[in-house]
Amino acid sequence: MSQQRTPLIAGNWKMNGFLEDGAARASDLAGRMKSTGSDGFQMLLCPPATLLNAVGTAIADSGIFLGGQDCHVNPSGAHTGDISAAMLADLCCSHVIVGHSERRADHGEDDALVKAKAEAAIAAGMCAIVCVGETEAQRDAGETNAVVAGQVQGSLPVGADTSNLVIAYEPVWAIGTGRTARPAEAQEVHAVLRQTLNDIAGGEVADHCRILYGGSVKPGNAAELMALADVDGALVGGASLEADDFWSIAMACT
Ligand code: PGA
Repeated sequence: MSQQRTPLIAGNWKMNGFLEDGAARASDLAGRMKSTGSDGFQMLLCPPATLLNAVGTAIADSGIFLGGQDCHVNPSGAHTGDISAAMLADLCCSHVIVGHSERRADHGEDDALVKAKAEAAIAAGMCAIVCVGETEAQRDAGETNAVVAGQVQGSLPVGADTSNLVIAYEPVWAIGTGRTARPAEAQEVHAVLRQTLNDIAGGEVADHCRILYGGSVKPGNAAELMALADVDGALVGGASLEADDFWSIAMACT
């Protein structure tokens, strides 16, 4: 964790939750934020699109940010089932995740599409959280650093600056598996990502852009991951579905 970058603890609820439990969890977290304060970190909730309105209402005035899990590249039009960045912004979303490995795998999203989505998010006034990460086979082949650097090179939106870009490093083999990158492994990749940002976007962006770690972050491993020099928060899946666990992860940043 660096003094100059405020850690971001982002909950990616994925395709989980209904109105009652989603709103209750959001209200619970909002109450903790209001009573405890959020000195030293920022919190973001990315519920499924069906819950954005209810979660947004539950966290109003708490300081918790609201985000989408994906957006279309176009602002509107004939795209059945899709949601535009402008629509997310209309629901008071400040962030949107793009290029999650589940979208890359399930929907065949490539770097060029992820870049276009990130640019759509920025054009709508939001911050794009661009996800990158290697598969287990790529790690075993010693390709991790090249893969993630290539994904950043291919996915980095034009117009990215310190206010509208977050990178999330999520090793695919660590997502939802209970396996986590060892701290030294995570730090090495985060440093590669920051150097890549420096090469593409310059030192100002590289120094101030937050790079989140994701992949089986839990209360028990959050502190050692958040303590790493180039880890600036977490993108949390499973553990974000329990308010106690998610709050504990946030507390690891304080
Ligand atoms: P996980 O998911 O914490 O359940 O591994 C992280 C993510 O996919 O963002």
